[in-house]
Parts: sequence; C-alpha cells; structure tokens
Amino acid sequence: MNIIDIIENKKTGNELTKGEIEFFINGYNNGEITDYQAAALIMAICINGMTVDEISDLTIAMANSGEMLDLSDIASNTVDKHSTGGIGDKITLILMPIMASMGIPIVKMSGRGLGITGGTVDKLQSIPGYKTDIEIDEVKKNVKEIGIALISQSANLAPADKKIYALRDTIACVDSTPLIASSIMSKKIASGAQNIILDVTCGKGAFMETKSDAKTLSKVMKNIGKNAGRNVMCILTNMNEPVGYSVGNSLEVVEAVKALRGDMTEDVREIILTFGSYMLKMAGLGDDLEENEKKIVKEIESGKAYKKFLELVGKQGGDTSYIENLEKFEKAPIIVPVVSNKSGFVTDLSAELIGRASVDLGAGRLKKEDDIDPRVGIIVCKKTGDKVSKDEIMAYVHANDPKKADEAVLKVRNAYTILDKKVKKPSVILDVL
Ligand code: URA
Repeated sequence: MNIIDIIENKKTGNELTKGEIEFFINGYNNGEITDYQAAALIMAICINGMTVDEISDLTIAMANSGEMLDLSDIASNTVDKHSTGGIGDKITLILMPIMASMGIPIVKMSGRGLGITGGTVDKLQSIPGYKTDIEIDEVKKNVKEIGIALISQSANLAPADKKIYALRDTIACVDSTPLIASSIMSKKIASGAQNIILDVTCGKGAFMETKSDAKTLSKVMKNIGKNAGRNVMCILTNMNEPVGYSVGNSLEVVEAVKALRGDMTEDVREIILTFGSYMLKMAGLGDDLEENEKKIVKEIESGKAYKKFLELVGKQGGDTSYIENLEKFEKAPIIVPVVSNKSGFVTDLSAELIGRASVDLGAGRLKKEDDIDPRVGIIVCKKTGDKVSKDEIMAYVHANDPKKADEAVLKVRNAYTILDKKVKKPSVILDVL
C-alpha cells in the first residue's frame, strides 16, 4: 500500500478501505506521510466526500492515533460537549464550569480557531499562565480533585486530528461534512465521555449554512457515536449573527466571566439553559428540563459556577487575579467606535463578516504557525432587531494597527444591514435532534 495510490483512489471518487484510511492516519501521524501528500488527500476528500463507512473508519483511526481516556474510574455518566464552530462562541467557557459545579465530571478537549471561527483553546490561552497542554495523568487528577479539566489536544488525545485540523485551516478544507464529523467525534471518543452533546451551528458564520446541511452533519455524528457505543444528541443553533457581544480571545473570556457572575445576553442565556438542562438529563441528574433550568439559574446566582471557573483557572496554572479583576486583561492599543450612517433597525448582522474582520485584526490565523493577538477583536453593541439612530455607536473595533483598524471599521459597518422595518430577534435554538 502507498499514499500515492490512496490519493489517486480518492481523487477518482472511489471508496477507501479501512486499511487505506488507517495507513494514511498512522503514516501522517508518525511523520512518514508529508504535509503536501496529506493536503492532497484531504482536498480529494473535501471535493468527493466519503461514505458513512469511510467516515466511521476515519473517526476511529483518528481516535486511536493517541491515548484513549478511560473515565470509568471517575464517573459512569460523564457528558462532553462540542460546537461545530462559530463567531463569538464562548459557550464552553460558561457552560462547562456550571456543569462541573453541579456535579458532572468534565474533561473537555477543545481546538484552536479554525477558518473564521474562534477556538476555545485560543481563548483560554489569553488568560496569563493558563496551560491547555497538560498530561493525561494530570487531567485525571484534576477531574478527581475539582471535577473539571479544559484542555487542548497536546495531551496525546487524537493527535492525528490535531495535525489534520491545522492543515485543513490553511488549505480551504474546513467546510466538509466528513472532515468536521470525524474531527469532532474522534476527539470526543478519545476523551472518554459516554454522553456527548453537540452544538451544530447553522448560518452565515457557521460551516453549515443551511438547516438541512446542519441536520445531515448531525445525523452523521450521531451515527458515528452509535457505532462507537456513545449516546449523542445534537442541538442546532443559529449562527447568522455572533453569539453574545464579543468576538476575539480575551474579549470573550471577559464576557464569559461576566456571564458566570450572572450578567449575560439573552442569546447566551438561552443556549446555556438549553444545553445545560439536557446535559443534566443525560448525566442522570434530572429528567425535568424546566426544573433543570431553574437549578442552573440558582447555581449561577449562588456564585458557585463562577467559583468553579476560578478553581479551574488556578488548577491549570492561570493567574486568577485576572478573572477576579477583569480590568487586568491588557486592552488593544487602538479602540475605534463604528457608528451608523443612518437610522433604522438592524435587520441582519453578518457573523461571517464579523468573523473575517476579527481574523484580519489578528484574533485568528491565516497560516497554521501564525501567532494571534489575544487583545484584538470586535464588541457589538447592536444586534438583529435593535433600533439604531444615525451616528449611534453600533460596535467597537479593538486593533493593534491603525490600518487594520480602518479596514475593520469598514467591514464591521458592512456587516450591518439597517432598514426602516423592524424585525424580530432571531431564535437561537433551531432544533433538537
Ligand atoms: N470543531 C472541530 O473540532 N473540528 C472541526 O472540524 C470543526 C469544528
């Protein structure tokens, strides 16, 4: 078997065998297959797609490329969560400490930013000292001691996905159902949770633009889970506009901490309560979803969820004084308001354009080795359904360079559609599958 024949096979639209898929994953993981050969195969997969069997084989090969975490000695009913990616999506930072504080042991492996979407790892790394790459023994120890670990993939869990994920980002191969499904599910299977809840984002700022594509992706991931003996549920969420009000790494940490202290926007609240109540149900901690929502609100109001986040940051080496005093996060040197040039109502706020503006400011990467600037990004003050007057501030651009700031101001203004007619605030939860 050799990689050139495998590439040729996929290029001509054939189904790859389990053996071929394992040969590729093992060879790429141990460095025998080069980046350019992997890029060619990934592009062929992206263009020609994969069958259900191929996707399952790819997922399992990626999960097996490193260690498989066994959480059975910690708890039997663990629940993990993952999002298919979005703009301003800081839900993991808020939801997981709440769930840990309510008694669900959490081991959550996250990724870096991908395409225009942000990554939880980049957000966590904007907290000075926070280590995302801790060893598996430490992960287990932390979960036993404080009930939560939020980590990156460097802990030798699904390392093949880590390499492919970084490669896809730089060769325009992000928006592919087989690649997204196998990437997410390999991480979730390797992380050991019995129950998995997936936030399948849908809209202009997501990889799946239509509800029908988001449903197809959900079906594929549920099927992979079933074959691997895991219980998977998917919730479709709206990603036509950014989640919450901040986009950019430390800006989103600040918003997440405020949310954990009880101060959150309506869309963030709806996502947290919906996902949280289903997670409690999956973990066997309550079947009544409305009751679960009330318990979550109480947990936040009591300050326990916020304390859990502080504990997590401290345990993973982060400087908790930044969380206690959010003013300590360094601000971008240039902060420019974006004002409206007319009066009316916001009928659309393009998550895609806001995401692009944020990557161009330096909050995301254009090449896999690019550094990001944790300070930069965008704060939106007006969202769909809001009234706006001429010359009113709609958003702020946080930049590290005057030229980039000017360009971002134009992009952010273009992201807004302002018309005379009022529209309703969009629903955030689109479907539960
Ligand atoms: N999140 C992942 O982990 N992988 C993807 O491919 C997309 C979102």
